[in-house]
Amino acid sequence: MKHLLTAQDLARQDIERICDRAAAFAETQERDVKKLPALRNRTVLNLFYEASTRTRGSFELAAKRLSADVVNFTASGSSTEKGESLKDTVLTLSAHQPDAIVIRCPWAGAPALLADWTDAAIVNAGDGKHEHPTQALLDVYTLRRRLGALDGLNVWIVGDVLHSRVARSNVRLFQEMGANVTLAGPPTLMPRDIGVTGAAVSYSLDGVGEADVVYALRMQNERMQEAYVPSLREYSWFFQVDSRRIAPGALIMHPGPVNRGVEISAEATDSERSLILDQVEAGVVVRMAVLYELLAASRAGSPVREGAPA
Ligand code: CP
Repeated sequence: MKHLLTAQDLARQDIERICDRAAAFAETQERDVKKLPALRNRTVLNLFYEASTRTRGSFELAAKRLSADVVNFTASGSSTEKGESLKDTVLTLSAHQPDAIVIRCPWAGAPALLADWTDAAIVNAGDGKHEHPTQALLDVYTLRRRLGALDGLNVWIVGDVLHSRVARSNVRLFQEMGANVTLAGPPTLMPRDIGVTGAAVSYSLDGVGEADVVYALRMQNERMQEAYVPSLREYSWFFQVDSRRIAPGALIMHPGPVNRGVEISAEATDSERSLILDQVEAGVVVRMAVLYELLAASRAGSPVREGAPA
């Protein structure tokens, strides 16, 4: 695999290989010395044009845990503020010869453009409303760790599907791993072409009691140019993920950041059934596995065997 641009590129065997490698990395992260030498002398450029807490932090940590050199670029404070274009920024920073560029940006499809402008491996860390493939990978990893497998699992993804890159990537990977996916939310927050996903669609939470996993999506106010719901209060009344609405054994997920009291109740966020912090923890080892996959796997054996503490 040269790049990770969309979840559509990942077949079940790719997902399983990346998750298995992430699990092997997780064992190494229990050690006192957490660094592995696998990406020594490699450079990872984190190019962030949008806000991020989880993805940016975990990619940086992942690259450092694999001994890569890391360059962090954020649009704020860079020459982007003087009008430098994405292309010129990428060409400029590519002069430092990064081996991988991790990009988060508001422009759907931009990671694929980067792949034409530079020799570096490109990782899509979220492009507008389009895709967030490493989020989907870490969510599959989290569920596999908890439940063993996703085959036959009923997963409900609830909320602002229209603006959600997480929904787009997660539907694909959950289905590829054998889960039955239902997308639920108000009609105004469903894409018109929702049928192409092959997921079931529900415009209420009436059947959510059947779900084994309920995945709440953030209301993406920053991507809304008009009012999609009469009020957040009314939205919460009908669609808020709350422990009282879902089966007693159902697990709760959310990609973060959480709008407590809007798409998910504070009680559900903090409950023992919530996997939200497990998802964050998984981010580091899954992103280690992705960087390893792109930069080292083709020319190496087991990262853990090679990966005696640096
Ligand atoms: N889930 C996610 O992408 O979170 P951040 O925006 O904080 O990276």
